Amino acid sequence: MSEKELDNVTGVETTGHEWDGIKELNNPMPRWWIYTFIVCCIWGFIYQFLYPSWPLINDYYKGYFNETQRDIIGAELKAIARDRSVFTERIKDADLVTIRNDNSMFEFAQAGGKAAFGDNCAPCHGTGAAGFVGYPNLNDDEWIWGGSLDEIHYTISFGVRGVHEDTRLNDMPAFLRDELLTKQEIDDVTTYVQSLSDRTITSNTAAQELYIDNCSTCHGEDGKGLREFGAPDLTDAISLYVTDRDSIIDIISYSRGGVMPTWRGRLDEATIKSLAIYVHTLGGGE
Ligand code: HEC
Ligand code: HEC
Repeated sequence: MSEKELDNVTGVETTGHEWDGIKELNNPMPRWWIYTFIVCCIWGFIYQFLYPSWPLINDYYKGYFNETQRDIIGAELKAIARDRSVFTERIKDADLVTIRNDNSMFEFAQAGGKAAFGDNCAPCHGTGAAGFVGYPNLNDDEWIWGGSLDEIHYTISFGVRGVHEDTRLNDMPAFLRDELLTKQEIDDVTTYVQSLSDRTITSNTAAQELYIDNCSTCHGEDGKGLREFGAPDLTDAISLYVTDRDSIIDIISYSRGGVMPTWRGRLDEATIKSLAIYVHTLGGGE
């Protein structure tokens, strides 16, 4: 153990440790390792004075630069918020067409609109805005109230049958309950309504007259719907409610009156504009 012994193959001194005839050589550490180690020690020594290091009784040593990750992130977040508020302010004041045509504002509005849609609108219109029965699909180019930026913006701001005095309002009469038409007449006019979208169904002149007298003021003589009344197009395959005969009879008899909430006052103006931009880009914007 104690006496120096040279390994006779390499000529290197051994440590004296031996296991079953295998001996450990006493090679020195490589130079580069020693130097790196020394440099690290020096760096470590200096580092403790520059950056936060030692715990103190109530506090900790903050270091020469007095720098913390928390402050750095805080400053970054503030910068982001400042950038955002610049955009939010610009969107609040700009008109919709300007936002639509300005690339950076448009991207910001679209992203913000998408997020706000998920939070506020998806429960009724679906995450992809494809809608459900009674809740219109916002991806198609069929619009009950109009698909221009301004019309969409108006619908979102004031809602449909909502609480604001400027809300979009139009109620289809409940023709059976209000005793405006008899069951038989409703049956006939339903056939007429079906014939508008389905060529295999034929109707008669009496039914057409019923339609013209009772329905055309809102749905139009041709059945294509009138937007100022929010009366849907009856001639296409896209329907707000279901298209089977019984549901049509039911709607004519009792009407529906779906409610789209008023968002002005619940969401700020920049968010409402962003939503209008987002909905407009979904596919069917006009
Ligand atoms: C409580 C359910 C509900 C919520 C929440 C809701 N909507 Fe609606 N929305 C409706 C209904 C119902 C209609 C159809 C109203 C009608 O009969 O004309 C509608 C209609 C619309 C229309 C008009 C579609 C057209 O064809 O003219 C737009 C645009 C719209 N919603 C956007 C939104 C946006 C954006 C949000 C989120 C801020 C939202 N909606 C949240 C129920 C809802
Ligand atoms: C005062 C205007 C008004 C009159 C009159 C009116 N409607 Fe409507 N109709 C509407 C509105 C508004 C809706 C949208 C549904 C809702 O939310 O109440 C609608 C919806 C419908 C729908 C469902 C469309 C869909 O896409 O699912 C049918 C079908 C319909 N009307 C048929 C008729 C028939 C038939 C008559 C005449 C007997 C008639 N309406 C008279 C305003 C009117």
